[in-house]
Amino acid sequence: MQEENMQSTVQTSNLGNYEEARKQFSWEEVERHFTWYANGKVNMAHEAIDRHVDEGRGNKTALIYSDASRRETFTFEELKLLSNRFGNVLRQHGIGKGDRVFIFMPRSPELYVALLGILKTGAIAGPLFEAFMETAVKDRLEDSGAVALITTPQLLGRVSREELPELKQIIVVGEVHSGEDLISYDDEMRSASDELEPEWLDREDGLLIHYTSGSTGKPKGVYHVQNAMIQHYYTGKMVLDLREDDIYWCTADPGWVTGTSYGIFAPWLNGVTNVVRGGRFSPQDWYSTIERENVSVWYSAPTAFRMLMGAGEQVHEQFRLDSLRHVLSVGEPLNPEVVRWGWKAYGHRIHDTWWMTETGAQLICNYPEMDIKPGSMGKPLPGIEAAIVDDHGQEVPPNHMGNLAIRTPWPSMMRTIWNNPSKYEEYFRLPGWYVSGDSAYMDEDGYFWFQGRIDDVINSSGERIGPFEVESKLIEHPAVAEAGVIGKPDSTRGEIIKAFIALREGYEATDELKEEIYRFVKEGLSAHAAPREIEFKDKLPKTRSGKIMRRVLKAWELDLPAGDLSTIED
Ligand code: WT7
Repeated sequence: MQEENMQSTVQTSNLGNYEEARKQFSWEEVERHFTWYANGKVNMAHEAIDRHVDEGRGNKTALIYSDASRRETFTFEELKLLSNRFGNVLRQHGIGKGDRVFIFMPRSPELYVALLGILKTGAIAGPLFEAFMETAVKDRLEDSGAVALITTPQLLGRVSREELPELKQIIVVGEVHSGEDLISYDDEMRSASDELEPEWLDREDGLLIHYTSGSTGKPKGVYHVQNAMIQHYYTGKMVLDLREDDIYWCTADPGWVTGTSYGIFAPWLNGVTNVVRGGRFSPQDWYSTIERENVSVWYSAPTAFRMLMGAGEQVHEQFRLDSLRHVLSVGEPLNPEVVRWGWKAYGHRIHDTWWMTETGAQLICNYPEMDIKPGSMGKPLPGIEAAIVDDHGQEVPPNHMGNLAIRTPWPSMMRTIWNNPSKYEEYFRLPGWYVSGDSAYMDEDGYFWFQGRIDDVINSSGERIGPFEVESKLIEHPAVAEAGVIGKPDSTRGEIIKAFIALREGYEATDELKEEIYRFVKEGLSAHAAPREIEFKDKLPKTRSGKIMRRVLKAWELDLPAGDLSTIED
């Protein structure tokens, strides 16, 4: 804990002095920025795109999209007209306010146009990560009652349409054969009008649903509303430190909340040029993206930084990275070692930020001008009160571990768990607080230090995985009688997924079977949820009510005492 303070590299920022900003802060002041503050008409896509056209910034580049095979740029005006067209396509098919419309496709300009078009109609967008397989896609479309889906010919095969009676329309970006009962994106975009009056909404009307995992049950549909834009805008300005001439790159996919809150809304609400890079991670590819596009603000994740660090100096030294002004991280603990390496490699301290799918936007951050203590998540945003509380909601003294909790409410807080209000209530079990599920401590200077998850949620490469979803898939395999899944510490990925499996009678514990089970999860659920390590056991530790005790599995794995075993069966 005796880390040297690191003077921040951003010398004069939008936020200025943190303590001063905190004192003077009011959310109402932030709201004045929006057109709806004056006219009462709310629509995220209007604030993010159309208003820049209205205010004379229509010719500014809004999106720079590239992947291995194409590079295209779009101005704010072009995005306005394209999303108008797509909004009209949706309206022609009867889609409007409150409908759930999902997107299941790899990053491409069309994904961004589609998402903005959905928002223009007042529908609620549901972005799905492209790596999801059949079961993962079905669970999410079913739970949300999605009426329409935008996807590609390549991913269409993972959509079990017969099992989704509410899913009326499928719009395909790419080749469509007639007679398939599919809507062609290209055909309908061509004939749609590019004039559209957006659906004017209330600030508490829906915006997005992001599915995320807890320790029990199926994925939870985290429901966000238009009001979140207040915090997207504010944190974009004060934490990302976005300025008019910035070229900003957030490496996250919009299938995860970072890819929407900070890959779409924060940059565009601030009128900034947004870089999107499709395709897979490679150090060369990422550095050449920074060099080619002159990226000045870069938001990524610890696993990526660790992989870049692992690639060695000979890689980053081949690229001109001096366009960078500010570098940030989110999603998992950022090791002090990585912060120090970033300072050496890029000349920038990587600024850690903490938040969750449920919180909608950043809450605890290292601000541009703040001294960084490597390993700390930073301090709460102006307007946000964070604390470490015990299980009764009492604040604990500095340097004591406890529940990381946030005083309710804040603008971008989720408004419910779709279809599951009792899950929602669980987050607020301590009166006045949102209970994050993370454990942490606060030091005497008010910096917060992440310690771990209190529940069984696994964080692998910054992606949050619910053990229950993986276990449910595992027991669908004919050889698997019982399965328990935990996160096993890993120096690159943070954690990897490890499964303990008891086999059914007649199956032999072989490496081939491990491989087959791995592929079964990978092909049925998704690659990031598949257990990289499998261990066969005769029997798994269970409570008398039959629940697998992951805590004991974890203790086995880490060679730790298993703790209280009074509830274990025999
Ligand atoms: C969980 C939320 C919304 C950001 C992307 C992940 C972990 C997040 C940090 C950080 C240590 C972090 C927490 C949190 N996490 N940021 N800076 N340091 N841990 O969103 O998938 O909803 O996961 O990610 O455990 O609860 P998510």
